[in-house]
Amino acid sequence: MKKIGIIGCGTIGTAVAEFIQKRLKARARIVALCDIDPKKAEYLAGKIRPRPAVTVIDSLIKRSDLVIEAAGMKVSGLVAKKAVLHKKDALIMSTGGLLKNAGLIRKARAKGCNIYIPSGAICGLDGLNAASIGRIKKVTLTTRKPIRGLKGAPYFKNRDIDKIKKETLVFSGNAEDAVRHFPKNINVAATLSLSGIGPRRTKVRIITSPRYTRNTHEVEVEGEFGSIFARTENVPSRENPKTSQLAIFSALAKLKEIV
Ligand SMILES: NC(=O)c1ccc[n+]([C@@H]2O[C@H](COP(=O)([O-])OP(=O)(O)OC[C@H]3O[C@@H](n4cnc5c(N)ncnc54)[C@H](O)[C@@H]3O)[C@@H](O)[C@H]2O)c1
Repeated sequence: MKKIGIIGCGTIGTAVAEFIQKRLKARARIVALCDIDPKKAEYLAGKIRPRPAVTVIDSLIKRSDLVIEAAGMKVSGLVAKKAVLHKKDALIMSTGGLLKNAGLIRKARAKGCNIYIPSGAICGLDGLNAASIGRIKKVTLTTRKPIRGLKGAPYFKNRDIDKIKKETLVFSGNAEDAVRHFPKNINVAATLSLSGIGPRRTKVRIITSPRYTRNTHEVEVEGEFGSIFARTENVPSRENPKTSQLAIFSALAKLKEIV
């Protein structure tokens, strides 16, 4: 029976907890929950049987075989580091936090544990992974999100995003900068970087429009193998429009594979 701890009891954390309860209960048990807002962790704990402990990150990691991070980029790098230190497996959703700790994935393997990265809201990572064995010339991500899917990003600190009335390219740069400017909106750029040519060389374009209803990601790869074009049209989650439904499903699918 795998002991699971969940850090971040929001949209993804709750979906993961419900999935374990309903579909994986013969093989996995939630032993601990943690949220910066303890009321959220307590509320979720109240729906799980047997009731898990509500605790802080360090204690959660020590109690778990597998730590699931669904809290945010500010904390995901630290969670991954601590998990590796304690030789625990970790599934990281906020992949942006791994960009400065990319060596951790190798370090985890050397210590006999794993850092798992779900495919998130994009497809094409399997091909990119294979292509990475050879020479890759270019990786570009073009993301289209409705205005409400980008709201609150630090990038718009001095710009009223609601004033955008037509399709507009709001960001063009590399994945490293995209993740810094949009920490809650563009984890896919980090995921793509980690599977391919890194955050400096991966190009990102972000486009918005009041008419968009879906989070669309286009991945383009060119290399000695040929080329890839993969387009995913995502329905945003009802609970959190920044998060795509496919990103939630990708966490559940990865978890199913692990346990
Ligand atoms: N890999 C992907 O494709 C992908 C897609 C969507 C979201 N994400 C990442 O997953 C994270 C969770 O997404 P969500 O839709 O569940 O968000 P959410 O806002 O619904 O939930 C986040 C939860 O984490 C809690 N939290 C925030 N900071 C914390 C901290 N330091 N310690 C503990 N808890 C903390 C919040 O209180 C909240 O309950 C996002 O922040 C994003 O970084 C990744």
